[in-house]
Amino acid sequence: MASRTHAITLVPGDGIGPEVSASVVRIAEAAGAATGVKFDWHSFAAGADAFERFGEYIPQALYRSIEENKVALKGPVTTPVGEGFSSINVALRQRFELFANFRPVKNLPGLKTRYPNIDLIIVRENTEDLYAGLEHVIVPGVVQSLKIITEKASTRIAQFAFEYARKHGRKKIHAIHKANIMKLSDGLFLRCCRGIAATFPDVAYAEHIVDNTCMQLVMNPYQYDILLTENLYGDILSDLCSAFVGGLGLVPGANLGTECAIFEAVHGSAPDIAGKDLANPTALLQSAVLMLHHIHEPATAERIQAGLEKVYAEGKVLTRDVGGTSGTSAFADAVIAAMDTA
Ligand code: NAI
Repeated sequence: MASRTHAITLVPGDGIGPEVSASVVRIAEAAGAATGVKFDWHSFAAGADAFERFGEYIPQALYRSIEENKVALKGPVTTPVGEGFSSINVALRQRFELFANFRPVKNLPGLKTRYPNIDLIIVRENTEDLYAGLEHVIVPGVVQSLKIITEKASTRIAQFAFEYARKHGRKKIHAIHKANIMKLSDGLFLRCCRGIAATFPDVAYAEHIVDNTCMQLVMNPYQYDILLTENLYGDILSDLCSAFVGGLGLVPGANLGTECAIFEAVHGSAPDIAGKDLANPTALLQSAVLMLHHIHEPATAERIQAGLEKVYAEGKVLTRDVGGTSGTSAFADAVIAAMDTA
């Protein structure tokens, strides 16, 4: 069979990152072998590992690789809490202007979770808000963190959400905000969302305050279709929504810009289970499925998704976070085997 080769930048990450990315690479290669797709993985360390080895948290070669390949698959990278270096994830999103963080939350067949039939999407602005990292000590004991909201970024993310909704037949967008308190910043975000909403009369539009949204989500998540948010609210709501469908081991994500895209799970480096063959690779695997659609390899994407869904539907080989007893690697083996019969 003639095959196409895709050069993909790979950041295995740290914590559970190397385990889940090794499994995902194995599954992607097996699916590619059956569908005429080859991968040329360009692998790079980032974060503390990269600093130890190369004296840089993000090696220049990693930046260059993403610039050239335009697509990366990334495992989680630990960010020290309350001290140390700034987030690698935020730096990459800002550097490549990956303005849209796209996170679909959907049940997998057969997996019993807190809610059945969830199908909602979080569209999160990915480049500004409190993640601009502008913090300083005014006087000892007083710190200022700047929340940056711009018309340009708010309009761009709203446009992305509405275009996605129209293209994929999604019915409703809720803009999530706290404009009752942050009247200027969240007020600007809402004005931009309303401006774009007015140009998409076929997509319903509503606004909910973020704290109420948390309660509404837990009471009745089915009222939501697409949640359109600023950076911080989207980060928090993503973890909350992941719990509807079985937790952080499952939910994928894409960081999308106009030139480049980085695909990564919602979860972090999970230091509590790292190195123990306990992590669920599903979230990164579903991120790879999003990536395969992005690079126009739907047959490979669908083969992986079908194998994954078969393993969940059978429920025999599952990781511990979703009630099973299998390890990361055994789960990957099961997905590879299931792809042949799904
Ligand atoms: P976390 O997402 O790493 O873990 C939260 C909980 O979910 C833990 O109990 C963990 O065991 C569980 N969990 C996460 N992923 C799992 C998986 N694939 N399979 C099974 N269980 C899983 O969040 P936490 O502990 O708040 O953050 C740890 C580190 O990760 C921090 O340094 C944080 O900055 C970083 N982080 C990195 C991200 C990225 O690289 N994109 C995203 C989020 C956090």
